Amino acid sequence: MPTTIINVSNRLPVTVGEQITKSSGGLVAALEGLSADDYNLKWFGWPGGAIVDAARQRKVQEILTEDHGCIPVFLSDDEVAGHYEGFSNSSLWPLLHYMANYMRYDPAWWDYYQTVNQRFADKVLQTAKPGDLVWVHDYQLMLVPAMLRERMPDLKIGFFLHTPFPSFEIFRCHPKRRELIAGMLGANLIGFHTFGYVRHFRSTVLRLLGLESEITRIRSYDGHTSVMGVFPIGINAAKFAEALDSPEFTKRRLELETSYAGKRVVLSVERMDYTKGILHRLDAIERFLEELEDRDSIKFVFVSVPSREEVEEYKELRAEMEARIGRINGQYSTLSSSPIRFIHASVNFTDLCALYSTADVGMVTPLIDGMNLVAKEYIACQRDRHGVLILSEFAGAAEELSNATLVNPYDAQAVAESLTAALAIPEEERRACNEPMRDRVMKYDAQHWARTFIEQLAGTVAGTVTMFDRPEKAAQLLSDAFSDSKRVALFLDYDGTLREIERDPRAAKPTPEVLQLLHLLDQHENIDVTIISGRTSADLEAWFGEHDIGLIAEHGAAARRAGTRAWEQLDRNISYRWKDEIRDVLRLYEQSTPGSFVEEKRTSLVWHHRKTDPEFGTWKAHELMHELGTMLVNEPVKIRHGRKIVEVTAEQVSKGGAVRRLLSQKPYDLVLCAGDDQTDESMFEIESPSFVSIKVGNEPSRAAYRLRDPAALRKFLVDALSAASPAAFEHEGTPAVA
Ligand code: UDP
Ligand code: G6P
Repeated sequence: MPTTIINVSNRLPVTVGEQITKSSGGLVAALEGLSADDYNLKWFGWPGGAIVDAARQRKVQEILTEDHGCIPVFLSDDEVAGHYEGFSNSSLWPLLHYMANYMRYDPAWWDYYQTVNQRFADKVLQTAKPGDLVWVHDYQLMLVPAMLRERMPDLKIGFFLHTPFPSFEIFRCHPKRRELIAGMLGANLIGFHTFGYVRHFRSTVLRLLGLESEITRIRSYDGHTSVMGVFPIGINAAKFAEALDSPEFTKRRLELETSYAGKRVVLSVERMDYTKGILHRLDAIERFLEELEDRDSIKFVFVSVPSREEVEEYKELRAEMEARIGRINGQYSTLSSSPIRFIHASVNFTDLCALYSTADVGMVTPLIDGMNLVAKEYIACQRDRHGVLILSEFAGAAEELSNATLVNPYDAQAVAESLTAALAIPEEERRACNEPMRDRVMKYDAQHWARTFIEQLAGTVAGTVTMFDRPEKAAQLLSDAFSDSKRVALFLDYDGTLREIERDPRAAKPTPEVLQLLHLLDQHENIDVTIISGRTSADLEAWFGEHDIGLIAEHGAAARRAGTRAWEQLDRNISYRWKDEIRDVLRLYEQSTPGSFVEEKRTSLVWHHRKTDPEFGTWKAHELMHELGTMLVNEPVKIRHGRKIVEVTAEQVSKGGAVRRLLSQKPYDLVLCAGDDQTDESMFEIESPSFVSIKVGNEPSRAAYRLRDPAALRKFLVDALSAASPAAFEHEGTPAVA
């Protein structure tokens, strides 16, 4: 039984114009190669152009569904301009290919990008069922995975990026950088062509969303995991093998051989795109021709498939390319031939195979390319001729085709010299280079690529992996206790729990939302609220001094009980002499790690690394942990790597200890502790039947429940209050505390 895949790509394998024609590009070429015996592709995509008339849409839909197994997603002229030509191909495409100078951005495009992504998602959701495999492709649809997950979390969602994923330094230029990667993270499995792209993606996710990851997995805020994988795309090997055995191919090759008799043929095939390095290649060809004695002995064939012709940069490329080829041909033609044959059109498949097979050299020199199938196709068609592949180091394919003549496309002189050298390589050497490459290309083909991706996707766990009880249960416990007027104690950590973290800790003053929540809680006599923080008593006093709530400062070293104004030291008889021993070490780390600083509190010394480069800061934090561990081995201290901090505190002081002490003095029917970092874990260790522990954030924790962020915690508390006494909220409405 073939596996059904809901396949979603911007472009369908066929384009509807005056007639229905095959679409071009690597994505379509590879997916076309999946065997119908193994996969039943329900392909959702744009049929090209703008088909707005309803009757024509119905007709096109009928033909595409019945004859091609495709479900069209129609776009209007404005949507094509905003989503496809604008956002996708004028802002994202250049940036993904490191060409920030080609990037243009119009804020109106973002609306189109979201609308079109939503339309694709909606169309899929009309037919998808829980557990279905959905495979979304490429940069035009980066938001679709998260849109699908939001509405149907039980789908198995795959996303494959067919372009490079650039370094964070480039990707960060995009105005919608965060939204785009958050969209991709809706997928269970995210595929790239090379490990380099995975590396860049992880580093971007860390720097833009603050989400740490393991080498191949990222856990998102809601506990859902995105697995990342390297799946180098391959060619439609069976189709090439069949073509090479066909009589039409033999006939066409003979015709080409006759027409190019006495010449060496150098072939380039590509969509006409500035990433393909066409102008740089022409520079190299000019240098080569300058040195060449017999100008009739060479023919460069350029097959440039028209692409994205409405986009300005593509129009300019075409004009420049035509002018340059005209000039070179003018300068280097003889009475009997001109050096460059330029075909600005698609060629049919048999002709393409015959060309690949006839060419003495395949010249594939993109400035950058996600993979580049043309390089693999050239090798596949060199079954008995053993031509030379000159391949750009900057194509993803260079990782697999390392026996090719690898060149830096920016170095025109070196490329010209490689071409001269390639034409002189003896046959035996060419054969020895090509055979292993050809074996690889034919074996690891498009079918293999899709199979490995789909198998891995099928093996992922759909939905959200919950290692925690669902927070609804905690909400119920809390609202029951509130409505029965039971005695409830809330111990709430401040930074990262009740209030969002700020890069500068001094800026994290309570927001109106936090103050409003405290005000609401204040009105219930049966609820005791205590803010429990690592901050100093002075900080807490300044922000909450006027509120009648409990305060616990410095991780449990000092407390101010509700109803009193006096602070009580809970750490009497504790020695802090060890601080003198480590102060200088922390200062050294402060000096050598830009963005970090040392904070001294009565009970602890803290090295903060929130504002450092995240990878460098985390690495230095590990080093510091190790160094402090060795130095303080005999001291009564705890060394913790908390949220972007390394903190050394007296062993006897902990939040858990302080909470236990307060609970031993006053009993409660329900106790709730909420926190976001390592220092809060000691509270979560408390064992009591009427105890609720809540972790805020996505790191591992021993807490029983989890909420995504401070806004979710505030909403959780307000919802529990309003469920307990809806009447109190009726005339005021739900307060905006989240
Ligand atoms: N191709 C095509 N029509 C042509 C010439 C080439 O469809 O007239 C195909 C070619 O066989 C290859 C694809 O277009 O499979 C180009 O894929 P590649 O990965 O090289 O580049 P992309 O277009 O995806 O950037
Ligand atoms: C590249 C992209 C594909 C795209 C193809 C053709 O291969 O990765 O997503 O379909 O080029 O470009 P087009 O703009 O015509 O769809």
